Amino acid sequence: MRTVVYSLRRRLLGWLLISTAVIGVVALTDTYREAVKTANVVSDRVLAGSALAIAERVVVAEDGSLQVDIPYVALEMLTSAAQDRVFYRVDGPPGQFITGYQTLPSLTGAQDQSTVFGDAVFRGEPIRIAALRRSASTGVNSVPFVVTVAETTIARRQLTQTILLRSALRLGLMIAGAAVIVWIAVTFSLRPLYRLGDAIAERSPDDLHPIGERVPSEVQGLVDTVNSFMVRLQSALDALRHFTGNASHQLRTPLAIIRTQLALAQRAGTIEATRVAARKADEAVADAERILAQLLLMAKIDAAAREEARGSERIELVGLARAITAEHVPVAGEAGIDLGFAGDGELWIRAEPLLVGELLKNLIGNALLYAGRGAEITVRVERCDDAVVLEVEDNGPGIRPELRKAVLKRFRRGGDEAPGTGLGLPIVEEIAALYGGTMRLEEGEGGRGLKAVVAFPAG
Ligand SMILES: Nc1ncnc2c1ncn2[C@@H]1O[C@H](COP(=O)(O)OP(=O)(O)OP(=O)(O)O)[C@@H](O)[C@H]1O
Ligand SMILES: [Mg+2]
Repeated sequence: MRTVVYSLRRRLLGWLLISTAVIGVVALTDTYREAVKTANVVSDRVLAGSALAIAERVVVAEDGSLQVDIPYVALEMLTSAAQDRVFYRVDGPPGQFITGYQTLPSLTGAQDQSTVFGDAVFRGEPIRIAALRRSASTGVNSVPFVVTVAETTIARRQLTQTILLRSALRLGLMIAGAAVIVWIAVTFSLRPLYRLGDAIAERSPDDLHPIGERVPSEVQGLVDTVNSFMVRLQSALDALRHFTGNASHQLRTPLAIIRTQLALAQRAGTIEATRVAARKADEAVADAERILAQLLLMAKIDAAAREEARGSERIELVGLARAITAEHVPVAGEAGIDLGFAGDGELWIRAEPLLVGELLKNLIGNALLYAGRGAEITVRVERCDDAVVLEVEDNGPGIRPELRKAVLKRFRRGGDEAPGTGLGLPIVEEIAALYGGTMRLEEGEGGRGLKAVVAFPAG
């Protein structure tokens, strides 16, 4: 799978440029319209001025016809700007052309004494037209006339272009300036992230301390998540170290015994001596097996403790305990021990069935091992208020009250009477605690033997 790496800086810049470009185009369009309007207003005023100047010179001749003496200065004030050309025409009463360019389009709709403006094309060039309607008086009656003045639009176009160009230039500079500012700002803002990366990179691989670097609030969530991940990683690593430490420590003795016995078997003079050594080595192997099994179980509990947050299933304890007790009956029979079960109905708890099975196996295993030939063992499941209680009771020698606390510690054993690791009871206690339960050791009925009581919250 390819991961696409993108740059925050480039992304921000991209967004900035796109948005300013959109705003810029809108602003430019507006500026252009404004520029055209301004240019028109300014030059229209000049056009109207020259139309007025011409109109002033229209007189009624003695024969009643209209005559004009065109004041060329009036037209010059128009041509002074750029290469624009100027046209004019003067019309008398409808249908009477007086002077000027006869083909110049005229504007209809000019009211008396008022000027109207319009756009048209003349001789293939766009022009702006102003038409002024007036009337010349003979003293008796008045003769209406229209003065039309037009000019090409080169100057106007140049003006709007200049305005537009300047606006575009200003806008471009603004965008470039903003881009530089964003670039610098983002570089500065990202600096804590680079520092964070450096700080983590510089760490030794087994340094899982929480990250203490000051970071922006937006990144704090990520840092918190990483920190909590590191805590979990640390506990997983601790569990692993614990396991390997325990394993190497506990396995050393049986392995040493196996080596010694194998060496003895090699050097043994008789078949009998070889057999004895082989048997002892075999016992040591069984020992190692048991130790490994218990250690793996501990590791499993650690893993389950981490899984626990995800919830466990409901299990029926009476049936489970009865089945496990039944599994042990043959072994108990061989050891001359009477193993029984008490409990009926259904009692539910929330737990992991394999681990609860291991818990019970450890308790029954202890009773079988330490209660002695001829003893009686009872496995019991009953309801007690809000709890479901699992008991394993025997009538063997039990554990002296002052020792009962001590045997709950890992690797603590009551004596060297039987092979064992000293992990059984701590495992029982840890599994119980994992599912919200408790474990205690009491003496059995009549002050004899041992009663291990595990109480789970009913589920
Ligand atoms: N039912 C019992 N009767 C008498 N003593 C017991 C009984 N159960 C446990 N003990 C004593 O408590 C000690 C600790 O028991 P625990 O189950 O923790 O370890 P272990 O049996 O020695 O080793 P493991 O169970 O790890 O193989 C035992 O060594 C034993 O002396
Ligand atoms: Mg045990």
